[in-house]
Amino acid sequence: MSKRDVSKPLSTNPNLLKWVHKMADLTKPSAIHWVDGSQQEYDGLCALMVASGTFIKLNEQLWPGCFYARSDPGDVARVEDRTFICSLSKDNAGPTNNWVDPFEMRKKLKGLFSGCMAGRTMYVLPYSMGPVGSPMAQIGVELTDSPYVVANMRIMARIGLPVFKEIDKAEKRVVPCLHSVGAPLAPGQKDVVWPCNPDKYIVHFPETREIWSYGSGYGGNALLGKKCFALRIASNMARDEGWMAEHMLILGVENPQGEKTYVAAAFPSACGKTNFAMMIPPKAFAGWKVWTVGDDIAWIKPDANGRLHAINPEAGFFGVAPGTSVKTNPNAMAALAKNTIFTNVALTPEGGVWWEGMTDTPPAECTDWQGKPWTPALAKEKGAKAAHPNARFTAPASQCPTIDPDWEKPEGVPISAFIFGGRRATTMPLVYQAFNWSAGVYTGATMGSEMTAAAAGTIGKVRRDPFAMLPFCGYHMGDYFRHWIKMQRSLSETPRIFHVNWFRKDADGKFIWPGFGENMRVLKWIVDRARGRALGKETPIGWQPRYEDLEWKDLEFTKERFDALQAFDRNAWRAEVIGHEELFIDLHDHLPKELVYERELLICRM
Ligand code: GTP
Ligand code: SPV
Ligand code: MN
Repeated sequence: MSKRDVSKPLSTNPNLLKWVHKMADLTKPSAIHWVDGSQQEYDGLCALMVASGTFIKLNEQLWPGCFYARSDPGDVARVEDRTFICSLSKDNAGPTNNWVDPFEMRKKLKGLFSGCMAGRTMYVLPYSMGPVGSPMAQIGVELTDSPYVVANMRIMARIGLPVFKEIDKAEKRVVPCLHSVGAPLAPGQKDVVWPCNPDKYIVHFPETREIWSYGSGYGGNALLGKKCFALRIASNMARDEGWMAEHMLILGVENPQGEKTYVAAAFPSACGKTNFAMMIPPKAFAGWKVWTVGDDIAWIKPDANGRLHAINPEAGFFGVAPGTSVKTNPNAMAALAKNTIFTNVALTPEGGVWWEGMTDTPPAECTDWQGKPWTPALAKEKGAKAAHPNARFTAPASQCPTIDPDWEKPEGVPISAFIFGGRRATTMPLVYQAFNWSAGVYTGATMGSEMTAAAAGTIGKVRRDPFAMLPFCGYHMGDYFRHWIKMQRSLSETPRIFHVNWFRKDADGKFIWPGFGENMRVLKWIVDRARGRALGKETPIGWQPRYEDLEWKDLEFTKERFDALQAFDRNAWRAEVIGHEELFIDLHDHLPKELVYERELLICRM
């Protein structure tokens, strides 16, 4: 190995040491830094990034402990077309994933990673997804040449010494994750503010449980504990081991009697998980409380009694900034008020941050997410956005005022209901309950949603996004459906399954439903249904609340409007079911027969 500055290894695990040296020999960093996870280390990394220009320290009076980053304009979201599941057989990845032969891909990656960390420090970043030591937690080690990734991961996961201790016990298999921004530095070459590479590869090897990520420093492409591990690799583990790794928020509803009911909800990226998870019930719901367990990912497992329990494997929120305000999500605003990293929002002259929707009146001037001057007049004239639509905050979950007292319980919280939902301007009613488990799995499997800025692609187009997992399922989607069907057999109590849509629009293109806190009216019905004490009427798609089944106190919402929102439009549903069939054709040779039958039953009822 060439000479390099190496900090003291913080692990004695021989496999880890061997792998770190092997990867350093491949990527040729100028230094290796074993991450202990301390505050002092974090402060040092932030100071380093302030010096390099990657971070701007925000005004300490306004935003204590907060930093601001601008990414490269070509590195602003997940890159689904550059994301690969390299299983041994193509069939195992299925038609919804990009697949390349793993031997070929390894050869390609070896070339890309060869010398790619030259002139940079390689951080050895150990992390636990889930509370350290929880029986449901899993461990990864990310080797990365990005201090920005280390800083973000310290908020998003449990990292550092306690995790090395777990690794040294050698009880749990460690998922090796290699990450590089793909921008080696020649001796004396000056670094850029956001190093990255136009050529990006986000690669998963499901059988060997490995992640290799190249070329991007942003979000799910680079914070490898999140989508790469906690969803794509973990979905493979979960299938093999009889549990579930889902793109779901987890929340607890407490009623005035102190009864608590937990639900998990899958909405596609940028479709309202963070908002729903932190919802504040309106005044009419005096004595009701919503507790936040997680806002993006749930790992769910039957306990010894056959009851599903869920943990949030993350420790922070990587939330969409635009649209977040004291009005729409005061809990998120409180969570991000300090110790937060902001990426691609706008910077105000006082050293604060701003984004579209944060306040009714925009700042008189600021610099936008690309560092250009921005004023409300310029926005009007050119339609320029101050913040990128996928601008995000990285905030510690512990700072959320509604964080559930049990959010770090090693065994998780009991789940009574699953909720699926998407962004649909038409067709999908506000809420319905599936008839039973397999009908509910059909509902999740056939979910559709308009595409958002969370991924590079065509925004606004409806696509099928089964279980909000289309970009995140690490194996064949048909087998994933089968896994959901099969899970019921290991349960003594089956959670009820619901579908919601906050985004139905009227003829003028306006949202019919006020959403946000008012979603409590729907959530209460869901909880009451799950507990067997609310009524609904049978429709071809499932059980729907009648107008009188929802609480309407303090909200002016006529029965006519509600009926429009809940309408089952036979013609729209004909087109919808054809959309289901298109997905099913792609998956046909792995599709569980239950879903074929469910589709037939739905057509018959229609
Ligand atoms: P990821 O972090 O990408 O997985 O997304 P998420 O599901 O957590 O999305 P988030 O809660 O951040 O929602 C993003 C967008 O949805 C914002 O523009 C919100 O304003 C909007 N949104 C959330 N809830 C509602 C709602 O009830 N009604 C309406 N109309 N918009 C909502
Ligand atoms: C999503 O896109 O669903 C996210 C953001 O939660 S990212 O971590 O970038 O994938
Ligand atoms: Mn997400």
